[in-house]
Amino acid sequence: MTEGTISATFDVYRHDPAKGDRPRYQRYTLKLSPHTPVLTALLQIRAEVDPSLALRYSCRSAICGSCAMQINSKSRLACETHIGPEIEQHGRIVVEPMRNQPVLRDLVVDQASFWKNYHRIEPFLKLDPAHPMPEGRPTSMTPEEVERFKETPRCIACASCYSACPAVEADPGFPGPMALAKLYRYVVDPRDRAHQDRLVRVQADGLWMCLRCHLCTDSCPKDVRPSERIRDLKEMAIAVQGATEHGSRHAVGFKDNLRDRGVLNESRLVRQTYGTLGMAGQLVQGLHVLRKKPEVMRKPHPIEGVDQIEKIYEALDRPSEDGA
Ligand code: SF4
Ligand code: SF4
Ligand code: FES
Repeated sequence: MTEGTISATFDVYRHDPAKGDRPRYQRYTLKLSPHTPVLTALLQIRAEVDPSLALRYSCRSAICGSCAMQINSKSRLACETHIGPEIEQHGRIVVEPMRNQPVLRDLVVDQASFWKNYHRIEPFLKLDPAHPMPEGRPTSMTPEEVERFKETPRCIACASCYSACPAVEADPGFPGPMALAKLYRYVVDPRDRAHQDRLVRVQADGLWMCLRCHLCTDSCPKDVRPSERIRDLKEMAIAVQGATEHGSRHAVGFKDNLRDRGVLNESRLVRQTYGTLGMAGQLVQGLHVLRKKPEVMRKPHPIEGVDQIEKIYEALDRPSEDGA
């Protein structure tokens, strides 16, 4: 082996739905520097071993977002994932197409649903004709206003977050983390005249399907932190419209429960989430839980030091010095 190289085994997902073949993993072994990006290795495989391997890429510099794929089960950019640490940690490199999007061929997926969900949030400024921009300037914001959404312009639309998101997997109608992070950007833009309307619409359009698992944030190569922006959207949506959805009623009920006794009153939380009538729809599941955990029907005693919790809530509710 050449000095400074390692033997790297790649198990690469291969599938051509047009040919009706079955998905399989093809093994390739190369001798490479540990600093080699996975994308470079795949291009070497394509150039020297197997020209039929399909993949998507462009900039090779973590800018265009084209080369996102599953590398050892994580959504990553292939051009910025080096093989050394992967081999060290996993012994081999399993390369698969992104999840939550149908495979067109090998590592190339159809991103139609990703983009459709993005366009659904209307990702453009809706300006107020009564407040035209200063003459000669298309935009005008203070640095503090820009600070509120400084992470979202870093997004390169790679769809890693979309691939990692279990809410998209459960319901492809969920807008997805990238679309919601972009929506946040327009909601806090002081020039946008539709931010209330945007918040009302997104409440009914899947906002509360987000599970707060933070997998999107973990997989984002640009630190956009979509799950934090979704949390902000949820808070703003409740402030604008109140708790109108099961998800928002659950969140508000959860908060009230803890404030009240420092511990969850589970039967009360179900009632707060679904309403007394709506609980009928939860009957089968409720009976199942009751059989296994009858104590859920008992009203829990307040925990010791519950007054300290009230102080925490008061501190959280107090406006900060910058007025946020
Ligand atoms: S936090 Fe929400 S949006 Fe992000 S991956 Fe989890 S479910 Fe999806
Ligand atoms: S939010 Fe991050 S992971 Fe999602 S598309 Fe943008 S850059 Fe990629
Ligand atoms: S090739 Fe452009 S981000 Fe990887």
